[in-house]
Amino acid sequence: MKARLKSVREALEEASNTLISRKRMLFSTSFATTASSPLLATTETLTLLKYSKRSRTFPAVTAVMADCTKGFKGSRLKKKMPGNSFGEAFRVTTWGESHGRAVGVVVDGCPAGLEITKEDIQSELDRRKPGKSEFVSARKEGDEVEILSGIFQGRTLGTPISMLVWNRDVDSKPYEPMKSIPRPGHADITYTLKYGFRDYRGGGRASARETVGRVAAGAIAKRLLAALYNTEILGHVVEIGGVRAREGLSVEEIRRNAERNAVRCADLNAARKMEERIREAKASGDSVGGIVEVIALNVPAGLGEPVFDKLDADIAKALMSIGAVKGVEIGAGFQSARMLGSEMNDEFFINGKKVRMKTNRAGGILGGISTGEPIVCRIAVKPTPSISKKQQSVDIERMEEVELSIKGRHDPCICPRIVPVAEAMLAIVLADHALRARNARLNAKE
Ligand SMILES: Cc1cc2nc3c(=O)[nH]c(=O)nc-3n(C[C@H](O)[C@H](O)[C@H](O)COP(=O)(O)O)c2cc1C
Repeated sequence: MKARLKSVREALEEASNTLISRKRMLFSTSFATTASSPLLATTETLTLLKYSKRSRTFPAVTAVMADCTKGFKGSRLKKKMPGNSFGEAFRVTTWGESHGRAVGVVVDGCPAGLEITKEDIQSELDRRKPGKSEFVSARKEGDEVEILSGIFQGRTLGTPISMLVWNRDVDSKPYEPMKSIPRPGHADITYTLKYGFRDYRGGGRASARETVGRVAAGAIAKRLLAALYNTEILGHVVEIGGVRAREGLSVEEIRRNAERNAVRCADLNAARKMEERIREAKASGDSVGGIVEVIALNVPAGLGEPVFDKLDADIAKALMSIGAVKGVEIGAGFQSARMLGSEMNDEFFINGKKVRMKTNRAGGILGGISTGEPIVCRIAVKPTPSISKKQQSVDIERMEEVELSIKGRHDPCICPRIVPVAEAMLAIVLADHALRARNARLNAKE
């Protein structure tokens, strides 16, 4: 690889007539060799354009870069890529910061011919947006999606789908005094330790704003799954601040009630108590966490790629990648640790020509492969880190301990807003595996 990089460097220098430092070249090469999204490819192109501006030999540079990408798949360079993309066959790349110009996503790999309208995507984004109740952030964003590519006359083209939402209601003033004071429980400290330089306004990339891209991509994944298998994905809040929804809520109740109250709980009695719990925490300058359940109905048996890309492994990663999620369980989850084998196992029976299960403690997945029963996952969502209650922090510029009381607009409880995000991530994993499963057998009918 060293020899290859050397020849690439020489070719680049020759083509661009510019002195490109070894470090920059390595950086650029790693981007070009591994970027599977057009957005990243564009970033790379711009970088190269900048370096080769004086030479006006850009086509020569791109030709060299195209050549040097060959054979680098799976190399060490790939492992150095930042983690802004998810999925193999249905690949999603989100971009943007909370108080930057816009946020968005590129979805690559969606097959051509899928019927989808702007409204299908907008309705999911509307479920995620802030400013809709006293239980979520007061930031007022219309979150109107602009589809830049990949959809034409209401159908996907099979080309990358790029979607953008402008950041309009940006107020960075509360973040100025906290530039060098990390918020306890937030990502300020780790972004500073890792990158040495960060966008401190509104949490930058570690903000709920990043989930706009996930939800927009999830809307496409949901449409794809619905078209393929009539899959339905439902999310609802089952616990907030220790207040629990009734056990055994039916799918019908979840469908009917979850979207009808501000905390997205299908048990309406519990919902009122949860609202009260959030009000109490908010009034004392604090926040509360909870548990959200996401269910996928009508998922065929056979999705999941053992052994490292098992369906449950990918779902766990997808859900865990959402900010504030501290735990994921599937089916009986942590409860299974306290059960006997005879209590945990789902017994089989014959239903027509199908093998079904009497119970679903496995949560719809065995051996990393979907069973055909509903997929049931739950996530533990921590209390919102930004609270106005006084906490101790440090000023990392002055290296002294300080007291911090956070201002700004924050969700007093993240659970209601995380529901559409968790649904989107589950849909993205299932869409990805639906496309990947097509290669599993020589003869799909066997
Ligand atoms: C939908 C959603 C809304 C959120 N709202 C806030 C918020 O208003 N204030 C805040 O401090 N954190 C909020 N967070 C949580 C932070 O993004 C998260 O805690 C932070 O990035 C640190 O990551 P970690 O908690 O996963 O370690 C929200 C997260 C999500 C997914």
